[in-house]
Parts: sequence; C-alpha cells; structure tokens
Amino acid sequence: MYDETAQVVENRPLAGSHFLLSLYSPKQARAARPGQFAMIRLPGRSDVILRRPMSIYDVRSRDLKGGYGLERHGQRPAVLQVLYKVVGRGTRLMAELTPGDRLAVLAPLGHGFFPEEYLAQARDASEVLLVAGGIGIAALLMPARDLARQKIPQRLFFGGRSRHDLVGLSDFKPLVEAITLATEDGSRGYRGYVTAPLAQYLEQRCEQRFLILACGPMAMLQVTAGLAERYNHPCLVSMENRMGCALGVCLGCSIRVRGEGHAAYERVCTEGPVFWSDHVVWNP
Ligand SMILES: Cc1cc2nc3c(=O)[nH]c(=O)nc-3n(C[C@H](O)[C@H](O)[C@H](O)COP(=O)(O)OP(=O)(O)OC[C@H]3O[C@@H](n4cnc5c(N)ncnc54)[C@H](O)[C@@H]3O)c2cc1C
Ligand code: FES
Repeated sequence: MYDETAQVVENRPLAGSHFLLSLYSPKQARAARPGQFAMIRLPGRSDVILRRPMSIYDVRSRDLKGGYGLERHGQRPAVLQVLYKVVGRGTRLMAELTPGDRLAVLAPLGHGFFPEEYLAQARDASEVLLVAGGIGIAALLMPARDLARQKIPQRLFFGGRSRHDLVGLSDFKPLVEAITLATEDGSRGYRGYVTAPLAQYLEQRCEQRFLILACGPMAMLQVTAGLAERYNHPCLVSMENRMGCALGVCLGCSIRVRGEGHAAYERVCTEGPVFWSDHVVWNP
C-alpha cells in the first residue's frame, strides 16, 4: 500500500453522472490487484475530510506521447482508473477534477478477487458468472480480465436502476461470452432486479457448476448469496460498506461472519472487501 499524491490524467464524463477518473500513479498501478480499492481525498478541502473508498477499475500503461492504453509490449502500468458515480458531496467534488489536479490516494487496499483463491473453482465450473449491481461493476473488470487470460468462459449479469447505470459495457464485451442486462425501470434489458434473470439461469442449469463473483448493493449480494447456497455454487462477494479509516483501525466497516467471539466479526477494509458468501452472516 502506498500513500501518494496522484495527478489527474483525465476525468471523463460517462452516462448518468458516472465518470472514469484516470490518475498517474505508477507505484500504485503496478501494485494493484483485482478487487482492491483506493481511498481518495481531495487535498485542501477541509469540508470533505474523510477519504472516499473507490474500487480500482483498471490499470493502464502510459505511452510516450502521453496517451494511455492497455498494458502491452512489456510496458508496465502507470495509470490507475476509478469508475465512479456522483451520489453526494465527495463525488460531486471529484466530478469537478480536471487534468493536472492532484489527489491524495492511498492504494492498493484490501483483500480482493485474488485468482490463487478461486482459480481452481473457476476451472471446475462450466462458466464464471459475474454479477454486478450499479457501480459494483467497477470491482469486476480486473477479475474478468484475469479469467479471460486463463480462457475461462464468463457471463455478465448487470443490473441498474436505469440504462444510464449500465456503464463500462464496452470494456466487458471482449472478455465475456454473453451479457444479460436488467433495469428497474425497464429502460434496457429485463425489467426488475438483475437477480431475477440470474435465478432463472441457475434454475435452468441445475446440473451445471458455476463460480459466482458479485459486487453491488447489500440486498443484491444477499439474494445472490442465497441463490449460490440454494444451487450449491461457490460465490465470492465484494462488499461496499461505508468506511472510516480503511486501515482496520476504527472497526466502522465490521460485518458478522461465521465464528465465535471476536472471530465472529471481520473488517470489510482489511479482511475484505471480498469474502466467500457462505462465510458472511447475512441476517445477524
Ligand atoms: C470498497 C468500496 C469500493 C467502492 N467502490 C466504488 C466505486 O468504484 N465507484 C463508486 O462510485 N463508488 C464506490 N464505492 C462507494 C463510494 O465510496 C461512495 O459512493 C462515496 O464514498 C460517496 O461519497 P460522497 O461524499 O459523494 O457521498 P456522501 O455524501 O457520503 O453520501 C451520499 C449518499 O451516498 C450513500 N453512500 C455513501 N457511501 C456509500 C457506500 N459505501 N455504499 C452505499 N451508499 C453509500 C450515502 O448513504 C448517501 O445516501 C465503494 C465503496 C466501498 C466501501
Ligand atoms: S474502515 Fe476503519 S476498520 Fe474498516
């Protein structure tokens, strides 16, 4: 983990109050692993004291002309990308960032989707199912790329409130076999929660083995975990609890897990944000 001052390379507006923020931060970009996150603070803004946790969406290399692209020709990553949605004061200020601005960034943080912990299950599965709710999509691009490199078939289930929440699809298309979309207002794909087409898919393929990787709101994760349990599939969930320190000190992000006494609580910022779904106690 590095505490760096990172320079904004680009802060690109996308649909529906989403932005793709690219930060020049070579040490952090090289150290980042799938499913890890960054804590971002706007220096000089004493009115926004707390850092904001953001998943590391992607890492890119920087070419000699100052552009940036996917890691190739042995180039090492130098740019950290964050995909974020404006929801409150901190993210509203982030949306005003322009190239050259500097941010205090602590990264990479947390225990993410680490391939050595799930590749065996992924290879045993007919497919890996990526399940994203809203901005939860941001945690899934790096694991999707890892799985694609291993030639493991994947299918993305992606839900949002409206079609404007379905950002990043062009990044996933080359990596996955198929994409199922759902929106609560019916503006794109299935009308309703994404867990409905997921349930239907699992029900129709009871005899197959899947590995599920999910990130999104707590309610979506809980339903996904329930489906994984019902159909007996291994499932990793990435949690997005509110955080204070992100360093394991304040205990503000603790969740209930299977265990007794102190072992019954784990911190999303350090033991997580990624957990096996059957390790989490969903109705404490
Ligand atoms: C590990 C982790 C990874 C995350 N990754 C991303 C990401 O990649 N992109 C992204 O846009 N957001 C992500 N989030 C959520 C993001 O941190 C919050 O949206 C952000 O902190 C809100 O700051 P704000 O000052 O704009 O909003 P605030 O003014 O603090 O809050 C505005 C509204 O957002 C809600 N809110 C704030 N934090 C959260 C949260 N953690 N979960 C759900 N609702 C929240 C509040 O309840 C309130 O309704 C992540 C959170 C965690 C813990
Ligand atoms: S946010 Fe402080 S312990 Fe996790």
